[in-house]
Amino acid sequence: MHLLLTGGCGLIGSALAARALRAGCRITVLDNLSTGRRKNLPRDRRVELVVGDVADDDLVADLVRRCDRVAHLAAGVGVGLVLSRPTGALRQALLGSEVLFRHAAAARKPVFFASTSEVYGDSAGEPLREDRNVGFGSPDRLRFSYAAGKVAGEALAFAYAHEYRLPVAVGRFFNVTGPAQRDEYGAVAPTFFGQARAGGPITVHGDGSQTRSFLDARDAAEYVWRLLEAARPGGILANIGRDNPVTVLDLARRIRDRVDPTVRIEHGAPDYGTGFVPILHRRPDSTRLLEITGYKPRFSLQDTLSSFVDALTHST
Ligand SMILES: NC(=O)c1ccc[n+]([C@@H]2O[C@H](COP(=O)([O-])OP(=O)(O)OC[C@H]3O[C@@H](n4cnc5c(N)ncnc54)[C@H](O)[C@@H]3O)[C@@H](O)[C@H]2O)c1
Repeated sequence: MHLLLTGGCGLIGSALAARALRAGCRITVLDNLSTGRRKNLPRDRRVELVVGDVADDDLVADLVRRCDRVAHLAAGVGVGLVLSRPTGALRQALLGSEVLFRHAAAARKPVFFASTSEVYGDSAGEPLREDRNVGFGSPDRLRFSYAAGKVAGEALAFAYAHEYRLPVAVGRFFNVTGPAQRDEYGAVAPTFFGQARAGGPITVHGDGSQTRSFLDARDAAEYVWRLLEAARPGGILANIGRDNPVTVLDLARRIRDRVDPTVRIEHGAPDYGTGFVPILHRRPDSTRLLEITGYKPRFSLQDTLSSFVDALTHST
């Protein structure tokens, strides 16, 4: 099997590359190295990196023709990045996905599309199910342009899945993390690790009672792999997350205790500017995910935090 993996140099993509190699695949990674890093990719002669943009029509046509399946993960990711370069992030989301689905449909190659829990907007803390209406804030608050782009990508996925009978799987990720995640664009775990290592303080937005449910990138990759295998004409849609909410303050304390228990935790306002709107709770209902994939996450939050510590130890 030959997998085309867009965004393969990123957090989830590099974990998926490792998973696909274990299954005996050849992999072509298409990545523009905007947030991803070459060094994240497994070193293996079966992995080929093509540096380029997913909106490049001719390039994508050629790569799709040569592969058997596609995992489309490339996107401008992170609240900070979306707010600082909103047109770039949206252009990629709209054009890149259109190019990719059009060629995948012409060549009839099954596609996994990476969407996001941002499409649900805020909630009162209840687990979010896939049959709930999507609903986020007005795109004049730029934070929501990311969700708008992903909803457009989902709509494209299902349009091709129906009209062209293209086998499609859409996964909505909830806070996937791991040591390959960048700390510059607002991802909370690598940011706290970076602040703790620098001697602090760790900055928690607000009182820290907002909750998130974290999924280890290795488990996320297993889910993508299984969803891609389950992709079918008409399309399937599933949350990809783990229902284990922790408060952001608790996360900060756990990270501080692992790096340096003397580091201070401060409370502050996010400095993203006016386009930012805080999301208080985000929790997946993973019933459908379990039904489709039959897989339960192997890595606890403790395991994930340990993998950060291991990576930091090896990088010094
Ligand atoms: N990590 C999460 O918690 C999370 C949550 C929701 C959705 N997602 C989605 O999952 C996917 C992977 O996210 P991630 O956390 O691994 O992010 P990441 O930033 O680590 O990876 C994204 C990769 O895509 C590449 N890329 C960006 N724009 C590109 C373009 N135009 N052409 C080619 N390559 C491009 C980047 O260089 C990077 O390697 C994304 O689509 C993201 O929107 C992730």
